[in-house]
Amino acid sequence: MMKDSIKKYFIHTYGCQMNVHESEKLAGVLCQHGYVKAEEDAEADIIVFNTCCIRESAETRVLGNLGHAKKLKEANPDLIIAICGCMPQKAGTAEMLKKRCPFIDIIFGTHNLSLFGEYLDKVENEGKKVLEIWHEERQIKELDTIKRDEGVSAWVNIMYGCNNFCSYCIVPYVKGRERSRSIDEIVGEINSLVKEGYKEITLLGQNVNSYNFVDEKNNHYDFADVLDIVSDIEGDFRIKFMTSHPKDISEKVVKTIADKQKLAKYIHLPLQSGSDRILKLMNRKYDSAQYLAKVDMIRNYIPDCGITSDIIVGFPTETNEDFEATETVVRKVCFNNLFTFIYSRRSGTVADKMDGQIDIKTKRERIKHLIDLQFGLGLRKAEEQIGKNGCVLCEKLIGGKGYGKSQNDTPVTFDSDEPLETGKFYNVKIKSHRNTKLYGTVINKIGD
Ligand code: 5AD
Ligand code: SF4
Repeated sequence: MMKDSIKKYFIHTYGCQMNVHESEKLAGVLCQHGYVKAEEDAEADIIVFNTCCIRESAETRVLGNLGHAKKLKEANPDLIIAICGCMPQKAGTAEMLKKRCPFIDIIFGTHNLSLFGEYLDKVENEGKKVLEIWHEERQIKELDTIKRDEGVSAWVNIMYGCNNFCSYCIVPYVKGRERSRSIDEIVGEINSLVKEGYKEITLLGQNVNSYNFVDEKNNHYDFADVLDIVSDIEGDFRIKFMTSHPKDISEKVVKTIADKQKLAKYIHLPLQSGSDRILKLMNRKYDSAQYLAKVDMIRNYIPDCGITSDIIVGFPTETNEDFEATETVVRKVCFNNLFTFIYSRRSGTVADKMDGQIDIKTKRERIKHLIDLQFGLGLRKAEEQIGKNGCVLCEKLIGGKGYGKSQNDTPVTFDSDEPLETGKFYNVKIKSHRNTKLYGTVINKIGD
C-alpha cells in the first residue's frame, strides 16, 4: 500500500486538563512542521506521549502503550516517537526510558516544552536522538501555536507549578514552583478566543487562588482581580477555573463569582480527607472545620454553587475512624460530584516514606464505600434540581438533543420545539433525572 505523502501526528495524552491543553500546544508545533492529525496511532509518522505521573496507574498505562508504539516502529522504522511531560521530568525516569525504550527518539520534560519544535528539527533533519530535561524553567516562553480541539470550550493557563508540597503529591517536583502569567497576556488570549467564537473559557492552574502578578508599574494582581478583569471582556461567554486549594480560596474571590454574571457558579475544592489527623499528615494546612466553613461561606454568597471535590482513600495510617470522618464531611457537604482516588505511593514524596501503608484490599473497600455514598448524595442533588430553570451552554447536538452544562457545571440533556444550535446559551427547565443525569426542556434562548 502507498503511504500517504502528508505527514501525520498522533498524541496520547494522560492526566489532567493542564496536560490536555499542553497537548494542544504540542499539536500547534506539529501543524507548523507540516503535520496533520491522524485518526489513529497506526497511521501516524510521529507519535507523542504527553504523560502524567500523579498515580502509578498513569505510568503503567504509558509503559503499556509504549510497547504498542515499539511494534509500530518495527513495522515502520521512520516513525518518530516522542515522550514528554511529567513522567520523564520525575527523577531517574528519563534515564530509565532511554535504557528500557531505545526506540524513543525524543525525551523531554515539563520545563522545556517550548523547545519541542527544535527537537523535532534535530530528529527530522539530522537524524539525531534528543534527551533533554531541564530542572527549572529558564524563561517563561509561551507556545502561541495552539491547535485547540474544535468545540465551544477553550483552556487558558493563568499560572504554572505548585508550592504546596502536599505530602502525597509528585506535582511540585515535576511542575516546579508557582509562576503566574502576565494579566495582559491572559486578557489578550481570552479576547482572541472570544472573537474566534469560543463560549466557555476555563482558567487553568494547579492552584489558581495563589495567582500573584506584579506588572511593570508595580500594580499587584491576585486571583480575584483576574476574575474581575476577564469577566469585563466583551462578548457572550462563560468563565470557569480550576483548581482551588481550600486554604487559599478567599471571600473576595467568592464575592466576585457571586457578582459577575459571566463567572460560572462552580468551584472544584479538593477535600482529600475529612480526618484532621490525616489532613495534617497530608500537609494540607486546613482541618475539616475550616473546610466546612469555606463551603458555608461559598453557599452563603452563592446558594446554588456547584461544588465538586477530590478525595484520596488509603493514605498511610488511615484507620476506619479516619475514613468515617471523611464520609461524615462528604455527607455534610453533599458535593455535586466527587473524584475518588486510591492513594498511590510516589517516590520522592514525604508520604512514600511513612510507616503504616494501607493494603490494597482495604483501599478498594473504602473507595467502593465512598463511591456508593456519593451516588446516593448525587441522586439527592439531582432531585433538588427538578423544576428549576438554569442557563445551559449547548456544547453538542446528538439526534436533535442538546448536551451541555448548567451554570453550576451539572451535565444536562435537553430538547426544544425550535432547532437547537451548538455554542448558544439556553434557559432550560429541568424536568427529570436518570441516576445523576439531568433532563430538561428549553424555555427560551439567551442572547442572539
Ligand atoms: N495518590 C492518589 N491520588 C493522588 N492525587 C494526587 N496525588 C495522589 C497520589 N499520590 C489526587 C489528589 C489531587 C488529584 C488531582 O489527584 O486528590 O487533587
Ligand atoms: Fe499536588 Fe497539593 Fe499542589 Fe494540588 S496543591 S498539585 S495536591 S501539591
